[in-house]
Amino acid sequence: MASQALQHETYNDKVVRQFAVMTLVWGIVGMAVGVFIAAQLYWPALNFDIPWLSYGRLRPLHTNAVIFAFGGSALFATSLHVVQRTSHARLISDRLASFVFWGWQLVIVLAAITLPLGITQSKEYAELEWPIDLLITAVWVAYGVLFFGTIAKRRVKHIYVANWFFGAFIIAVAMLHIVNNLALPVTLTKSYQVYTGAVDAMVQWWYGHNAVGFFLTAGFLGIMYYYVPKQVGRPIYSYRLSIVHFWALIAIYMWAGPHHLQYTALPDWAQSLGMVFSLILLAPSWGGMINGMMTLSGAWHKLRTDPIIKFLIVSLSFYGMSTFEGPMMSIKTVNSLSHYTDWTIGHVHSGALGWVAMISIGALYMIYPRVLGLKEMYSTRLIDIHFWVHTIGVVFYIASMWIAGVMQGLMWRATNADGTLTYTFVESLVATYPYYLVRFLGGVLVLGGMCVMAWNVWKTFQMARDTADSPLVEPVADAAHA
Ligand code: HEM
Ligand code: HEM
Repeated sequence: MASQALQHETYNDKVVRQFAVMTLVWGIVGMAVGVFIAAQLYWPALNFDIPWLSYGRLRPLHTNAVIFAFGGSALFATSLHVVQRTSHARLISDRLASFVFWGWQLVIVLAAITLPLGITQSKEYAELEWPIDLLITAVWVAYGVLFFGTIAKRRVKHIYVANWFFGAFIIAVAMLHIVNNLALPVTLTKSYQVYTGAVDAMVQWWYGHNAVGFFLTAGFLGIMYYYVPKQVGRPIYSYRLSIVHFWALIAIYMWAGPHHLQYTALPDWAQSLGMVFSLILLAPSWGGMINGMMTLSGAWHKLRTDPIIKFLIVSLSFYGMSTFEGPMMSIKTVNSLSHYTDWTIGHVHSGALGWVAMISIGALYMIYPRVLGLKEMYSTRLIDIHFWVHTIGVVFYIASMWIAGVMQGLMWRATNADGTLTYTFVESLVATYPYYLVRFLGGVLVLGGMCVMAWNVWKTFQMARDTADSPLVEPVADAAHA
């Protein structure tokens, strides 16, 4: 009891706990929608001729739910956990923390209502209309004040590298959100973008790519730099490499956006610039991956017994895979094959389900017991089961999409001797069907794993309540953290 009270006074763990729980909830919701749209691609009758259940409306619901609700909540939970621990300071304001939590939940609920209704700006990953964009801006500024304010009042001189990554993520996302959403409102649910034509496309993909770079990468690298050393029980392999990793990533990511617009109306030099910067990006990305993995030096045996380390380290392998694949896909000749095909979808999910989801899940399994005053989760065995089910699901998903993608690209470009197309589009679609079924099954496995996690988390919360109710048992706060 005493140590729990001490933790409570020292740190604001309430907001961390709230975001950690909602990460799981939104993860299940977002992935369930993913499984449903994967099923729609195999069984089109599942559109039921109902507009708000149609694939076109549910797809952006899926992307918004998994990126901003699941990924976003994971980033809020971890960054607010890490910044307090590494600054040896409590968040500057509990009320501001509460505003950030409830404000973000409101954004998600509004997205879940407006997207199925077809209210959208029609910009990928920036679909939400202007009133919600304004709410996001307010919440984000509050988050920035909370995070940087806590850094400012830190009781240690040094700013740990994880905070650099979180800080860059917060600043970059603020900038991207404002620039890409500049629009003239005409009604409450309709606005017009200020950009037109090729400029609109350029701004959109500067945003889109950096949403990947800063939302789906920099923030999650912040998670890697804190939770991997913590769970392994060793300092990060090379602190110097982490600083080089940080500055190289920040300097290079911003220029790679045009690789989304190869062979379009964009000036040719801009397309080549995007390709060159994407290729250079391979080096810092792999530097970061190696830094994380080598942290296990001398402790590799833990990989066999600790399923949380399995989640963290396998996520880094997927990070390495997707950051190798991405630069390859940015090469114009490769992109002429991969673009428009399911290869892109395979790449996206090797990053999203392999890297983003696995590092988040690993970190969450560390956070729940810590913010509940417990030593560990209810069941380590269930974490292990989750790890295997998730990994097999991801492999089903991405392998099927890679094969389908390359096959589609080759079928579309095949020509006969007289110059006519060898295959009709429908023939390529028919050939893709079996792979859509495998992807669906992969999704079901991943979702099943999340349900196992939910059960484990539920039992862990029950355990914490029982411990708190019993006057004979002292809750064990994490000594290093207290
Ligand atoms: C059970 C897990 C999941 C399943 C079954 C699933 C399924 C799908 C499906 C069917 C699509 C549409 C593909 C198409 O249009 O051809 C899609 C798109 C997408 N998903 Fe997922 N997804 C899952 C998890 C996730 C997660 C966790 C993330 C991110 C953290 C994510 C991010 C995305 C993105 C960014 C797209 C759009 C890709 C693009 O436009 O190129 N997904 N997903
Ligand atoms: C060095 C790192 C990376 C590079 C250079 C890169 C490059 C690329 C390229 C060339 C495309 C295809 C563009 C097209 O043909 O339309 C793409 C798509 C995509 N990548 Fe990556 N990628 C990288 C890492 C990642 C990671 C780690 C993630 C996820 C966490 C990710 C998420 C995505 C998404 C969501 C798309 C689809 C965008 C869309 O069309 O909707 N990428 N990437």
